[in-house]
Amino acid sequence: KSILLINGPNLNLLGTREPETYGSTTLAQVEEQAKKQAESLNATLEAFQSNTEGAIIDRIHEARGNVDIIVINPAAFTHTSVAIRDALLGVEIPFIEIHISNVHKREAFRHHSYLSDKAEAVLVGLGTFGYTCAIEHAVKNIKPAKK
Ligand code: DQA
Repeated sequence: KSILLINGPNLNLLGTREPETYGSTTLAQVEEQAKKQAESLNATLEAFQSNTEGAIIDRIHEARGNVDIIVINPAAFTHTSVAIRDALLGVEIPFIEIHISNVHKREAFRHHSYLSDKAEAVLVGLGTFGYTCAIEHAVKNIKPAKK
């Protein structure tokens, strides 16, 4: 199976950004660990991060036909982006939504997601361990996209 891991805006600052909310693990560490984990499960994983909505949409489009499952932390775009929702639905690739923090324990504007009702699974509040859970679930239990 092939997995595409997408991280949205400001997650490049992981490890230094609001560590009380997001922890001290860096994005490079998350991505490296994710690749090793996928390999150990006989899967492949490519990691992508962008602060730009259009770049994330373009990367989702490129995944069509060559990625089985998308694991995405859309960060703030979770709460604003109809366009990322439409891109994910457009390419017909199953996806898992993840949030490092428990968004439901935070401001009301973080309680709504434009993706959750279409996601295979939603992981919130597990810290960066959420990525580990999402990848294992993706490889073991999610039926890949039709090609
Ligand atoms: C986040 C939660 C979002 O509300 C926030 O805008 C982020 C990160 C998380 O991983 O907890 O940037 O997606």
